[in-house]
Amino acid sequence: MHAWWRCGLLLWALLSGCSGLEFSLILDQDAKGHKQNEAAVRALQAGDAERALQKLQKALRRHSSAALQNTVGVALMYLAKSRQPFSKDKLLQAALRAFNQTVLLAGGSLGMTGGANNGGKGRAKPQATGGSDLEVALANQALATRYVEASRLNRLGIQLDLQNRWEEAAAVLREAQKVAPSYDPLITSNLGTVIYKNATHRSSGWLEAEPLYERARELVQRAHKDLPGHPAVVKSLKEVQRLQSSLSAWRENAGLRELPVPRELLEAAAVRGTLVCTWSGGGSKFSKMALNLHESIRLNAPHWERAFVVLALDKETLLFLRGQNITTWLYETTDIYMTRWRLLAGIVASGFSVLLMDTDVVFLGDPFSHFFFDADFEVMTDHLFPERDLWDEKWRDEEHINTGFMFVRGSKPALHLVHGFIDAHHSPWDSEGPSVGGGFDLFDQRIFARFVRKQIQAGSCYSLLENMTYGKRHNASVLNPSVRVHHPEVIAHGASFFWLRSHRARGLHMPPVAHANFGRNKLYFMRDRRVWFVENLTERFSEPVHKDEYFPAAALPQDLFHGEADPFAGGSTRVRFLRYGNKAKAVKSSKSRLGEGSDKCVSHGVEANSLACHFLELLAALEVAVWLGRRLILPNSFNCSWSPMWEVYGMRTSFRDVHEDCTFDYFADAESFIKRFGHLLVEASFVKSEEFAALSKRSKMLRLDRLDLAEPRELRQLDASVLEVEGSVLALRDSLRDRYHEFTALGRALFPCKWIEFEAWFYARRPDQPAAVGSSRCGVQGLDCCAVYHGWAEKLEYFTGVAWDLPCDCGVGAALGCHPRDNGECARQDDEDAVVMDFAEMLDYKLEL
Ligand SMILES: *[C@@H]1O[C@H](CO)[C@@H](O)[C@H](O)[C@H]1NC(C)=O
Ligand SMILES: *[C@@H]1O[C@H](CO)[C@@H](O)[C@H](O)[C@H]1NC(C)=O
Ligand SMILES: *[C@@H]1O[C@H](CO)[C@@H](O)[C@H](O)[C@H]1NC(C)=O
Ligand SMILES: *[C@@H]1O[C@H](CO)[C@@H](O)[C@H](O)[C@H]1NC(C)=O
Ligand SMILES: *[C@@H]1O[C@H](CO)[C@@H](O)[C@H](O)[C@H]1NC(C)=O
Ligand SMILES: *[C@@H]1O[C@H](CO)[C@@H](O)[C@H](O)[C@H]1NC(C)=O
Ligand SMILES: *[C@@H]1O[C@H](CO)[C@@H](O)[C@H](O)[C@H]1NC(C)=O
Repeated sequence: MHAWWRCGLLLWALLSGCSGLEFSLILDQDAKGHKQNEAAVRALQAGDAERALQKLQKALRRHSSAALQNTVGVALMYLAKSRQPFSKDKLLQAALRAFNQTVLLAGGSLGMTGGANNGGKGRAKPQATGGSDLEVALANQALATRYVEASRLNRLGIQLDLQNRWEEAAAVLREAQKVAPSYDPLITSNLGTVIYKNATHRSSGWLEAEPLYERARELVQRAHKDLPGHPAVVKSLKEVQRLQSSLSAWRENAGLRELPVPRELLEAAAVRGTLVCTWSGGGSKFSKMALNLHESIRLNAPHWERAFVVLALDKETLLFLRGQNITTWLYETTDIYMTRWRLLAGIVASGFSVLLMDTDVVFLGDPFSHFFFDADFEVMTDHLFPERDLWDEKWRDEEHINTGFMFVRGSKPALHLVHGFIDAHHSPWDSEGPSVGGGFDLFDQRIFARFVRKQIQAGSCYSLLENMTYGKRHNASVLNPSVRVHHPEVIAHGASFFWLRSHRARGLHMPPVAHANFGRNKLYFMRDRRVWFVENLTERFSEPVHKDEYFPAAALPQDLFHGEADPFAGGSTRVRFLRYGNKAKAVKSSKSRLGEGSDKCVSHGVEANSLACHFLELLAALEVAVWLGRRLILPNSFNCSWSPMWEVYGMRTSFRDVHEDCTFDYFADAESFIKRFGHLLVEASFVKSEEFAALSKRSKMLRLDRLDLAEPRELRQLDASVLEVEGSVLALRDSLRDRYHEFTALGRALFPCKWIEFEAWFYARRPDQPAAVGSSRCGVQGLDCCAVYHGWAEKLEYFTGVAWDLPCDCGVGAALGCHPRDNGECARQDDEDAVVMDFAEMLDYKLEL
């Protein structure tokens, strides 16, 4: 009997869209191995394809039959449905091979095409439903071939998309839609995605783009109905919706030069005719940054507090800010392209001077005392070597001015410059364009700096940096508008403050302002560098674990806490901590074991006292902390001089104190690390907080030799708020692993293996500079020493010629059991995925015989 898979019977049938095209089984009661075949089918119906394959594998060792081989193909197709592209293709290929083998066993030949009738040479028996084994085999083979081809075309489409070849990608994906035996939501979503990208980058303006956005949204929305919650589809849907809504905002405001401003409200706020202003949208979640800026002003430059005003872009933000007693007004728009400039024009036209900032700036002193008051604009730069590089057109325009911090004088020339800029950029399609794609550019910082550079070159604007002048002060007898650029050693961009500490070169203990514009995961950086002034630990530690499409938070094994409350799930009342590598403690302790830890790395194949060794210890400490139900306090023990930019970015001078150590974020991407592990840890500088001082009164040392006595439950219930690991945390981890088997499951859950890609496209390049070279490494999810973007990795070679040469896995992949496999995957030896792949490979081998 043939069993026809019905809609809803199996998950994969559901995913294939219930189009009625389904694979058939051969359930020949007389065939050898029939019992095992039936058992395998039952496992498959129960959704356990792995078990089905195991049964089939056993049966196939004894008998070789078309029925068994055919079920193998169906089981592999089933598995393929739920896999990521790479494994999926491998499994589809293996399924096709199994069906090919079925054709041979059913008496056909591989040259035959589907639909051939009763070609069976004796073996194929007529079936109740009218088809022979061979017919079934040929039909399955034909169907699998179409799936394989559709999958290949889909992958090709994705590759073309990555190369910005959207039109070609669209053609290929349309072909994939045709070839696919049934409607495939992922192909449809990918098609929608390349259509809106093409519309953005290839259209001449919004008239051309609008209908294409509409078409793209329809496609992605349809896919979203079938695959609700699929990360790639959700991402595309959000993006295309955002584009559509922005487009209407751009068009609506195209003729607008100045935002309306509440003059009386501003007059009441202004201090000596000057406002300190930012703008914010997105409700309380984002407005917390604005609140932090406000708090920093209140603490560090209280005489400017009254002048602080915020433009709210939506009603929720307005209400939130009002509730905080902040002077605010509403202008509803979703446009983040020209809003800053129209706001600036509105304020300046009303006669005020204004310091206009992004919300992720903090006052650490009074920036006004560092202004020169000799120019229409005084701005921050993103350069690292401004004396050498400012206004040199060999650099990217976005480096010259950081538009997140601009002091603008209420003067005619200032207004003239802003108006000129707005007039020339009604639509994001009006720009000359970045290097990629056509004219479309949303990055107003880049567009503005290019505008100013061209004005300087044309003799209608001039710029100042310290005692240097760029361009002409006058045209005929008329004074040109002027833009003073401040040195980042004083008006600090993110790289200067959060990493380089370059204000020390000016003898400053703190720069007057810092902008969290470099580095990914601002909140982490602001917390760790102690410029997050609105912390509420009660709220923070009871937050639910965040959901992120790209960097999912690490999930713990279900039975880890034996039914007791998960201390990391949020809502926990008492938070306890684990700390390790505390040198001060170790030095005091007579039984100091410092140094032992480093040697321990060697037994894991990692050089003692190396960067990799420190990361290995960090991950081991995290494992121990989580097992104990405690948050890990991140270490501040990385040797700063291991950084590739130590010499060339002048850290040797700014890190004067030889005992100064660095946090992990000098080497690894904070975004992926914190998003994955943030709910399990706190930043290193937590130990400098008052809260910690109170907690650490109840701290205790955790010694290796005490473990012999303790049950896991006892260890977990230790009352001390802070446990300090004495000696090597790696040795502690190893001994816990030996003792408690659930430790192994924890390590695996925390640190799944993953290719950590070297993304050369992200690295800034001068026209004459070769592409950055680096290599992807088989490492663990969440730890990435190549993606340290926004000032570190991606601009180092660009500005200095020194390459960012850290291994992408931070040197710990192999020590954590992650290895590249022959089939190209990065996996642990015993990963479930790997087991399935091995099985598929074993079948291949069998088939090739
Ligand atoms: C299956 O057989 C077809 C010929 O019918 C051939 O084109 C294809 O390459 C084979 N596929 C595999 C994976 O063996
Ligand atoms: C790509 O964009 C161009 C310009 O708007 C348009 O003419 C073309 O039809 C688009 N192609 C696709 C596949 O959407
Ligand atoms: C806002 O101001 C009012 C009146 O001065 C005061 O009662 C209230 O506590 C303030 N709210 C905040 C959040 O500071
Ligand atoms: C200089 O000023 C004259 C007269 O106002 C004007 O025509 C000319 O365009 C200006 N040149 C530049 C480069 O702005
Ligand atoms: C600017 O100042 C520096 C240091 O004070 C000096 O070496 C340099 O010559 C000055 N440059 C100009 C253009 O005055
Ligand atoms: C911190 O947040 C909690 C919970 O929302 C609140 O009850 C408490 O008053 C806050 N503490 C401070 C100092 O604002
Ligand atoms: C940091 O590393 C450098 C270079 O390897 C070494 O000379 C220095 O002693 C190290 N510093 C500390 C505090 O270990």
